[in-house]
Amino acid sequence: MNPIYEKLLRCYESVKSRIDFVPQVAIVLGSGLGNYADNIRVEAELDYHEIEGFPVSTVPGHAGKFIFGYVADVPVVCMKGRVHYYEGYPISDVVLPVRLMKLMGAKILFLTNASGGINPSFSAGDFMMLRDHVSLWAPNPLIGANIDELGVRFPDMSHVYDPQLQEILRETAAECGIRLQEGVYAQLTGPSFESPAEIQLLHRLGVDAVGMSTVVEAIAANHMGMKICCISCVSNLAAGMTDNPLTHEEVQEAANVAAPKFTRLVSTAVAKFGSVL
Ligand code: HPA
Repeated sequence: MNPIYEKLLRCYESVKSRIDFVPQVAIVLGSGLGNYADNIRVEAELDYHEIEGFPVSTVPGHAGKFIFGYVADVPVVCMKGRVHYYEGYPISDVVLPVRLMKLMGAKILFLTNASGGINPSFSAGDFMMLRDHVSLWAPNPLIGANIDELGVRFPDMSHVYDPQLQEILRETAAECGIRLQEGVYAQLTGPSFESPAEIQLLHRLGVDAVGMSTVVEAIAANHMGMKICCISCVSNLAAGMTDNPLTHEEVQEAANVAAPKFTRLVSTAVAKFGSVL
């Protein structure tokens, strides 16, 4: 058997032996947004360390566990902490958690992240809903023998971010009085922030926000047929757009400030996702 698939199945068996809960929606919490998990009516938690072979994050602010429970009456699994490619994991490990949540039963994947804003109309603290992405610099997680049990060799990428979920997010943001920007997100590998010249290049290529996660997870989830949406918290303006040097602390601080609005937006939207399931 494909060793990547074998490892995924081992993790799945490890989870199933401990947790008897079938989530419908999987939520991945990005930098600084981990406290969102406090808004879930928790049924069970599972520390990543308890899952045999599961990749465990080394980044401060990315504590690692799955939280199972309900948002309104929608059963969710929430990842508090994710691993990034720049931590040195093989790309198959970076997308393993998303694949695992699909095997657990999740049909919808709600990704979140923090990003640097490139679109000049964005401000630090804005939320941007992804309409599409660019992933020309991060490795494609589907490279290698195709895992036919998960999806096809050459998946279509025309509508990675589900139009119905996007519409729900738009409506929800309007109802909650939250400004929701929209645009194209590019994943670079990190861990260094981009240079100002790289940001200018990305701007010319039509990129609105940049970060170090998400797209590889969206590619793997799309391969498996999940419905995907993503909201990025624009934690800072990208390199060269202000005189300030960028720091991870600034990213986390901005996400903390945005957290109450983020919580309202995510919870209200997830409660409505029942209509799409
Ligand atoms: N660049 C890349 N990743 C990020 C940034 C940024 O400016 N802000 C938060 N994550």
